[in-house]
Amino acid sequence: MTNRKKLVAGNWKMNGSLDANEALVLGILPEADGAVDVSVFCPFPYLGQLQRLLKGAGVQFGAQDMSAHLSGAYTGEVSVAMLKEFGVSQVIVGHSERRTYHAESSDIVAKKASLAIQNGVTPIVCLGETLGQREAGQVESVIASQLDPVIAECSKFVSDGVWNLVIAYEPVWAIGTGVTASPEQAQEVHAMIRQRLQAMLGEALAQSTRILYGGSVKPGNAAEIFAKVDIDGGLIGGAALSSDDFSGIIRAARG
Ligand code: 13P
Repeated sequence: MTNRKKLVAGNWKMNGSLDANEALVLGILPEADGAVDVSVFCPFPYLGQLQRLLKGAGVQFGAQDMSAHLSGAYTGEVSVAMLKEFGVSQVIVGHSERRTYHAESSDIVAKKASLAIQNGVTPIVCLGETLGQREAGQVESVIASQLDPVIAECSKFVSDGVWNLVIAYEPVWAIGTGVTASPEQAQEVHAMIRQRLQAMLGEALAQSTRILYGGSVKPGNAAEIFAKVDIDGGLIGGAALSSDDFSGIIRAARG
């Protein structure tokens, strides 16, 4: 009963160069035939390059973070209006690396997601538990504490039963470790997230919201993860830096 289109998103993190980016995106363009949505998220300085390279192509691009403020004395930050000037349509917010290294709270993440939506940019909101939290049986409470402020803030901007928001479940213990959640473990959390969306927003919005899985997705494990009913694609780190690997993951999403 789902008609959610799969999304394969590549988070380049702090990697890339002008030459490497060009080779990478040219390598994935042949796979972007519209059967699944494809996006790449580059460091800020390369947004102009991707705007040029991806003009008219079937690949969206975006930034890995944005400011919770609109403008002003916030040294080092980048506003949503600036992102839009470079043609950005999507932005990652709340990645665990931002939460860990930059002390981003779920309230700040909610504010960023809401500002993005209000400005017509789709936030990809990341959440997920650490290994310690999983072992302590806290998965549900951690997910709730990260998700609920986002829903509360962003649900104000549901219009005509639609909100432009994507969720990415990224268990911290699976990020960059080569250890992926099993398809069953991931599905269990995705279903929990969808149930929370349903309880707070209703069935229709819960069913139309895409929930991506992220954490050591590779061409070899993508198909079985994406086959799960509540998994609507992936947020890919390391494997998004190789056009062969990223293309393989896009093919897996296409099914
Ligand atoms: P890896 O695919 O390298 O585990 O990274 C996942 C991630 O953090 C994507 O945002």
